[in-house]
Amino acid sequence: SNRIMLGPLVAAIDQGTSSTRFLVFNAKTAELLSHHQVEIKQSFPKEGWVEEDPKEILQSVYECMDRTCEKLTQLNIDISNIKAVGVTNQRETTLVWDKETGEPLYNAIVWLDLRTQSTVERLINKTPGRNKNHLKHKTGLPISTYFSAVKLRWLMDNVEKVHEAVLSHRAMFGTVDSWLIWCLTGGKKGGVHCTDVTNASRTMLFNIHTMDWDPELCKYFDIPMEILPKVRSSSEIYGLMVSCLGDQSAALVGQMCFKDGQAKNTYGTGCFLLKNVGTKPVMSDHGLLTTVAYKLGRDKPACYALEGSVAIAGAVVRWLKDNLGIIQTSTELEKLAADVGTSYGCYFVPAFSGLYAPYWEPSARGIICGLTQFTNRSHLAFAALEAVCFQTREILDAMNQDSGIHLSQLQVDGGMTSNRLLMQLQADILCIPVVKPSMPETTALGAAMAAGAAEGVSVWSLNPEDLTEVTSEKFEPQINPEENNNNNIIYSTILLPKVLSSAIL
Ligand code: G3P
Repeated sequence: SNRIMLGPLVAAIDQGTSSTRFLVFNAKTAELLSHHQVEIKQSFPKEGWVEEDPKEILQSVYECMDRTCEKLTQLNIDISNIKAVGVTNQRETTLVWDKETGEPLYNAIVWLDLRTQSTVERLINKTPGRNKNHLKHKTGLPISTYFSAVKLRWLMDNVEKVHEAVLSHRAMFGTVDSWLIWCLTGGKKGGVHCTDVTNASRTMLFNIHTMDWDPELCKYFDIPMEILPKVRSSSEIYGLMVSCLGDQSAALVGQMCFKDGQAKNTYGTGCFLLKNVGTKPVMSDHGLLTTVAYKLGRDKPACYALEGSVAIAGAVVRWLKDNLGIIQTSTELEKLAADVGTSYGCYFVPAFSGLYAPYWEPSARGIICGLTQFTNRSHLAFAALEAVCFQTREILDAMNQDSGIHLSQLQVDGGMTSNRLLMQLQADILCIPVVKPSMPETTALGAAMAAGAAEGVSVWSLNPEDLTEVTSEKFEPQINPEENNNNNIIYSTILLPKVLSSAIL
């Protein structure tokens, strides 16, 4: 047949909280050639619990790979030109499986899950001065339900099968990247048990200075080090063409934020603003995390990022759809909100999983307020979009305060950025332009770039100049800053403190 000659291709598995994707790019031009996406089920077995099925996650990866390859073949593109596959994934989500049977021993506990709230409170109460930042000097993180160590501790304490497997040296722990790579490289028949520095830096067991698992942290959480995966760089061949990095790191790479001071905000299930701070970790005084941004090769230096994490962004849209039923599909939200163009004084704080940055308060719960007889579902939809923007503003303010330098524009990506109303609101609320690349799959692009650049598959240098010009769309702020600041003050100084104390109400 008439095969199209494109040269080398690179691919990415993007396993996010809400869906899995497989994407194939031209390794020279970064053009997206084909992709496929499958939604992932989430279960909520108890209030505050969020789980996913590890086998369904794996199956979704196979399905996406198969379907994408079919599509490529239909386009007469030779799939044997795929030279490297990168994995990028929802971070922190915790799994334990049996290395002999290959079976997961429990569902994956999703990063948003709150079951460890009491454990976290107990741990904080035990620290000198009840300091949630007790482990921050090593990990860059506050003690929180968000990170893997407490979830793993819960599994060991509460799931008999996990407990037994640990005792009999059959247990393997991993975040989603480790699970997928182990399965894809052979599983129980010799799969590679590894993770990369970016994912490791989200477990609370990893020392971001030494770049390795930390015996003291493992002791603190009483976790046997033998169940941990080996830590590798984010761009090297682990086995069968694979390399990996956490999804927010991948987005930073995909947005070409390689320079100190460059930042991006990704609107997925949650919303994550990361700023590259260079090769020395910088600790935040304003509630941000210090995390490993990437290490693009075994002998390359690690780069660090400051991160502001917002737990609920796209998840609020899913909630309006699944729990309230005010929309049938996520894309309807924009139109519904645009119908009114204002929240009419209605405010929504979707603190469904407590509040993350900059508060780190697991006991916070959401509120909707400012309702009148006049309020309808359109106002609620508008307030939900505003909530995502206000939370981003809080993070950006914290970041600006930390560095003393004000970001002059914000690079954005992720599923929600197709919502143009949201993008305009975001520019208005931040009072700076918001810039969105026309190829929205930045996370996958970053993972594919890292895989392509990995040792032995040098089809791609990580040099922005090598790529064809990245086209983007810019949203300029349109509302006068004063009007806007007022709104913002209501949100951050009146509402959020209420939400923070809502557990006591
Ligand atoms: O820390 C969680 C984050 O990695 C999840 O990303 O894209 O699934 O919202 P996303």
